[in-house]
Amino acid sequence: MNSTISITSKDKCSRREFLDKTLKGAKGIALGTFTVALINACSSDDGDSNPTGPTGGGSELTVDITASGNTALQNVGGIVALGSNSIDDKGLFVVRRTETAVDVFSRECTHQACVVSPFSGTTATCNCHGSQFSTTGQVLRGPANSPLKKYSASIDGNTITITP
Ligand code: FES
Repeated sequence: MNSTISITSKDKCSRREFLDKTLKGAKGIALGTFTVALINACSSDDGDSNPTGPTGGGSELTVDITASGNTALQNVGGIVALGSNSIDDKGLFVVRRTETAVDVFSRECTHQACVVSPFSGTTATCNCHGSQFSTTGQVLRGPANSPLKKYSASIDGNTITITP
């Protein structure tokens, strides 16, 4: 797997604070390639008052569909599973819906929060208790009884931007 990650911050923060946030954003990358932009991760006026780092609420994630592991998203119907990231620690499913639209869902199972495995065809299965989900995030088989959480996402050229 050739995953890469780069993290940028628009605000000032201490070196230690930045490294803490960077490492938190980079943990557990398992599949696909993405870039994290920590838009509000560091405050310009709070010094070290935010020692626990970002929660993901102020972050956006970008996915380069030309990068290794993401090229399936160049075609309508393509699906990529991303690992843990600053937006969702269970990972994400990115689905190329049309030439101009993508859907992004959490990989957190709505039954008891296990990580849903990558899609096989048009079905993603949670191996904890067998729930299955469609490419629109809907439940195909329980015990889960609610759809996967959906995130806002857009595509511009070769870049998909996902926001919490
Ligand atoms: S946690 Fe996924 S089926 Fe139970």
